[in-house]
Amino acid sequence: MRRYARITGTGSYLPPRRLTNNDLAAELAQHGIETSDEWIVERTGIRARHFAAPDVSSSDLALEASQKAIEAAGIGAQDIDLIIVATSTPDMVFPSTAAILQHKLGITNGCPAFDVQAVCSGFVYAMTVADSMIQTGAAKRALVVGSEVFSRILDFNDRTTCVLFGDGAGAVILEASEEPGILSAELHADGSHVGILCVPGNVSGGKVLGDPLLKMDGQAVFKLAVSVLDKAARAALEKAGLTDADIDWLIPHQANIRIMQSTARKLKLSMDKVVVTVDQHGNTSAASIPLALDHGVRSGQVQKGQTVLLEGVGGGFTWGAVLLKM
Ligand SMILES: CC(C)(COP(=O)(O)OP(=O)(O)OC[C@H]1O[C@@H](n2cnc3c(N)ncnc32)[C@H](O)[C@@H]1OP(=O)(O)O)[C@@H](O)C(=O)NCCC(=O)NCCS
Repeated sequence: MRRYARITGTGSYLPPRRLTNNDLAAELAQHGIETSDEWIVERTGIRARHFAAPDVSSSDLALEASQKAIEAAGIGAQDIDLIIVATSTPDMVFPSTAAILQHKLGITNGCPAFDVQAVCSGFVYAMTVADSMIQTGAAKRALVVGSEVFSRILDFNDRTTCVLFGDGAGAVILEASEEPGILSAELHADGSHVGILCVPGNVSGGKVLGDPLLKMDGQAVFKLAVSVLDKAARAALEKAGLTDADIDWLIPHQANIRIMQSTARKLKLSMDKVVVTVDQHGNTSAASIPLALDHGVRSGQVQKGQTVLLEGVGGGFTWGAVLLKM
C-alpha cells in the first residue's frame, strides 16, 4: 500500500501592522516617492500588506502559524518529527530558522529541522521534500512552514518593487497516511535567470558586501512566470493521471492577480476555483501559498477530499507545482 503525506492541519499569521495602498503611498510620499492605490490595484491586485515590527523575525511569524496548524491537526508539538521552513529572510545566516522555530515550539525530541531556500517557490519545494521523506519512512509527522519578513529587504526608494511585498507566515502539518494526500509534485529551476529577481548582497568579513535590497526586472519576471506555471501544473496532473477538469482549487503563489488569471485561463479554470488572498497581504514570498491555503480551509472553501493544485514561481528562477487531495 502506498504511503501518502496528507495535510491534517493548516495555520497562518499576519503581523498586526496593516498598510493599505493609501497608507503606503502616504509614507512613500514623505520621501518623495509617488505611487497610488489605483496604480497598484490595476497592475497587481494588491490592496494591503502587513509589515512585522522591527524586533519580530521570520521564526516569530512561523511560531504563530505553526501553533495554529498544530492545534488544527489535533497533535502536540512533541509529535512532530521533521521541521522544514521555506524562507529567504531567515533570522540569521545560520543556524536555520527551522532550528530556531523548533526551540521556540519547545520541541525537545531532536527531530531534524532545516530551511529550504527557493524564494517564492520555497513552499512547494519544502512540501515536496517533506512528502519524499514521509514516503520513504524517514518522517511521520512533518511541520512545513513558509515564513518571511520581506519588508527587511525592500528598497523603499524603488516604487516598482516596494509596493509589491509583505510579511507573513503559513504552516501545514503533513502526516503519513494510507489515505491519499500529496499525489504528485513537479519542481524546476533555471539559474541562468539569477539577475531578474535577486538580493545580490552577502555577508563577508564582518560587512555586508553588495546591495542587500531586492532587485527585480518586473516585466522579465512576469513573462517567465506566465510561461512556466501552467506547464508545471500540467506535468503534475499528468504524473497523477488527472486533468485540468479534476482540479477543485488552484492555490497559486500570491504575487500578482494578473499572473494568477493567466495561469487559470491556460488551465481552463474559472477564477471561482482560484483562492485569492494577494489583495490582503501582497506577495509574501514563501509564505503566500500556505497563507492562501489556510484561508481557503478556514473560510470553508477548501474541503476534505477535494483536489488542490499548489503552484509557485520565484527567484532563481524556480518554479513548481504540488497536486494533492485534502
Ligand atoms: C512590477 C509590475 C507590476 C510592473 O508593471 P508594468 O506594467 O510592467 O509596469 P512598468 O514597469 O512597465 O512601469 C510602467 C510605468 O509605471 C511606473 N511605475 C512603476 N511602479 C510604480 C508605482 N508603484 N506607482 C506608480 N507608478 C509606477 C513606471 O515608472 C512606468 O512609468 P513610465 O511609463 O512613465 O516609465 C509587473 O511587471 C509585474 O507584476 N511583474 C511581476 C512581478 C512579480 O510578480 N514578482 C514576483 C514574482 S515571485
